[in-house]
Amino acid sequence: MTTTVDHTLGGDLARAIADAPDATAAMTRAVALLKTRRPHYTWAGIYLLDGDTLVLGPYLGKPSPHTRIPLGRGICGAAATERATIVVDDVDNDSRYLACSLETKSEIVVPILDPADAAIVLGEIDIDSDQPAAFTADDTSLLQGVARALATRLR
Ligand code: SME
Repeated sequence: MTTTVDHTLGGDLARAIADAPDATAAMTRAVALLKTRRPHYTWAGIYLLDGDTLVLGPYLGKPSPHTRIPLGRGICGAAATERATIVVDDVDNDSRYLACSLETKSEIVVPILDPADAAIVLGEIDIDSDQPAAFTADDTSLLQGVARALATRLR
């Protein structure tokens, strides 16, 4: 079951990210708020782009085997290459999908773009859910706001 985004979450995320002492703390706080306030987010994490490789940073959920993802691989690699949000309602029907957990049914990946140059990918937010089609337009909008806020801390 998906849930509507509670009205205060966007503001709480923006404040937590702005008030964090450094970029790592900003990412850690954002992941914690997302995971606790959106119960259907089974796994929430942030990858940072290092050259041609996405490197896993702060996350909550089961440890992922995919701590380093080349740009050409996975839904994560596709979102970074396309510089676009990708929502997958049924991961078993997407040949790009790299499995993190057998229970995962749907996924959303939102790129974090350089505020000064949207052609530059700094990283991305990756969320998995054990529910099929868990992510709505509200989730996309919420996570794109988080990505914009984090971008200002990562530059
Ligand atoms: N599912 C991702 C890999 C990362 S794990 O879900 C944490 C992908 O297909 O790129």
